[in-house]
Amino acid sequence: MSADSEAFERVKSVLLSAHKSTTSDEKVSFYNCWAENYDRDVAVLEYSAPSVAAKCIATHFSGVREAAVVLDVACGTGLVAKQMKNLGFGNFVGVDGSKAMLDKARESGLYQDLKSCLLGEEPLPKQWDRFDVVVIVGALSVGQVPFDVIRDLCNVTRPGGSICMTTRSNHHNLKYKASLEREMRQMEEEELWTCVEITDVDNWERAVSEQEEGYISGAVYLYKKN
Ligand SMILES: C[S@@+](CC[C@H](N)C(=O)[O-])C[C@H]1O[C@@H](n2cnc3c(N)ncnc32)[C@H](O)[C@@H]1O
Repeated sequence: MSADSEAFERVKSVLLSAHKSTTSDEKVSFYNCWAENYDRDVAVLEYSAPSVAAKCIATHFSGVREAAVVLDVACGTGLVAKQMKNLGFGNFVGVDGSKAMLDKARESGLYQDLKSCLLGEEPLPKQWDRFDVVVIVGALSVGQVPFDVIRDLCNVTRPGGSICMTTRSNHHNLKYKASLEREMRQMEEEELWTCVEITDVDNWERAVSEQEEGYISGAVYLYKKN
């Protein structure tokens, strides 16, 4: 077996072990254990979501990028902030439910503030609102962040600000994705936000489950707060 396929098999077994987690607490414990190797392992998976989301935000952002304040929700180790910084954004605040992932984000030196919050069970920190950009990447999926948390993300965005979200389109996540999109449309009908762009991406990341092969697809959603 080549070094590449050996690395892929290792990452695959790490991820398949996470499918056993059913509660948010179990999922966050999984991330606590994965934090040390997360960046290396998602590179093996060719995980493209942070760069796709950062480019989508930058393409539609009309203000001064260095001055914009960005809330990175479920920030993990900081991959989204890293991509956004490369595109000229400079002020990041992060939140995540995993202490070990937050420690890694802190080490990155990219964030002005980082807070722990188990989304779906705890509200976002009270003093936080009026962000220019709110982004959540890789965490809106079955067993992670409940889809209705997107209302809280819209609430903490300033009028005219952007909310960027991603989800996976693989078989395991289809029901969640349908509920997420229903909630997005409902919020548009309530005139809370306006859809700017929805992009389907074919090569989102390498597939790890037995039912899929090659790459799974994903989607990026960009909304503007009314
Ligand atoms: C796949 S990682 C994505 C991290 C980062 N956004 C990226 O794209 O690299 C998912 C992150 O969501 C966090 N997470 C999952 N469920 C959560 C929840 N209910 N509340 C807060 N964070 C959660 C995990 O701790 C983990 O850091």
